[in-house]
Amino acid sequence: MSQSSLTLSSSGEPDSAQLEFDTLLDVCRKLSELQPGVLLNELLRYARALVRAEAGTVFRLAPGNMLHFACAQNDARPDLVVEPASPDQSRSELKTVTIPIDNSSLAGYTAKSREPLRLDDVYDLPDGADYHFSSKYDKSTGYRTRSMLVIPMLDQSEEPVGVLQLINHKATDGKISAFSEREEQIAMALASMAAISVRNAILIESVRHKNEQLKLAQLETVMRLATAAELRDDDTGQHIKRVSMYCETIARKLGYSEDFAYNLMCSSPMHDIGKLGIPDAILTKPGKLTDEERLAMQSHTTEGAKILSGSPHKLMQTAQRIAHSHHERWDGKGYPRGLAGEDIPIEGRITAVADVYDALTSRRCYKPPFTSDKAYEIIQEDAGTHFDARIVAAFVAARDDIEIIQETFRDKPEAL
Ligand SMILES: [Fe+2]
Ligand SMILES: [Fe+2]
Repeated sequence: MSQSSLTLSSSGEPDSAQLEFDTLLDVCRKLSELQPGVLLNELLRYARALVRAEAGTVFRLAPGNMLHFACAQNDARPDLVVEPASPDQSRSELKTVTIPIDNSSLAGYTAKSREPLRLDDVYDLPDGADYHFSSKYDKSTGYRTRSMLVIPMLDQSEEPVGVLQLINHKATDGKISAFSEREEQIAMALASMAAISVRNAILIESVRHKNEQLKLAQLETVMRLATAAELRDDDTGQHIKRVSMYCETIARKLGYSEDFAYNLMCSSPMHDIGKLGIPDAILTKPGKLTDEERLAMQSHTTEGAKILSGSPHKLMQTAQRIAHSHHERWDGKGYPRGLAGEDIPIEGRITAVADVYDALTSRRCYKPPFTSDKAYEIIQEDAGTHFDARIVAAFVAARDDIEIIQETFRDKPEAL
């Protein structure tokens, strides 16, 4: 049989009885590519096909040194099949079955001893056996279990991650008979391969979870730090949330990748972080600023870039570029460096549109909030002079989304 020729018939039997080593390898490779949710069910399907088992069950390790029911298959009794995505609620109680890892069941004993069991008739166990077969399930379903292979699924460190139970060997004449030693070896090879895949999937899942937690913690730190800077400027803290989401929306509309948009969303809140270094007397001055004060105020761009400089992380590097360049203008008349056109980093150009739109539509001590129509009109008039026209076009195209963000994160009335 070639590596790719193993196919299962509807009865779950292999097309060929010739069980070659490369077939096993082929199945193992297929199993290793599956997600944990479907892996155990597929393991059971392949294992049953290879050892000619009429039925089978898989348990997986659960917290508290227990085995948790994962799936069941049965060619003779389709009503007893329970697959991972089975919508059948009548058998849902099986999904909650947990059994202890001890001698009170065959699966529990196998997980405890880490030894397989090959039983010709579970109702006629060897005298003095340490394990027990519970006939409760047979009694409640009317299905008769006879021969069984109970295989511990052991990972690289010989720790159990589950138990594979193969039930009722079907001889070529269709009669239920005993499993052979060779079939036990095949089931063990498959179970240990699947165990390693399950263990790896658990590890990957846990690393992914930790990574997510880290990302959230990082984002929260950024938001808190940025809010601290904004609050000194008599802001409500909502400004940075809106600007951050406007930036992400514009980036998506411009066709940038998910990664770029996410990075921009996380780094743009720090655009005014340099205000931390501006004296309160200037920052909160209600009247017009003197030239000197205006220069000091404008230094929040260079001060912000200084605070954020030297980081090896992409997010901080982007934040640094934004802090430095969000007051530059497309026509070169901005500050602090008077950069023009595409010399201004793209993230700074996007943040400039988002930041000005938000300032226009927000209440300030010196002006009421402009309507969206008015703010859009001003932004569009400034396309090609203050702003990159391509970004303004994307901002206009994203108007529905922009207004939803604006409404969702609007300043609370008491803060106005
Ligand atoms: Fe600014
Ligand atoms: Fe701002």
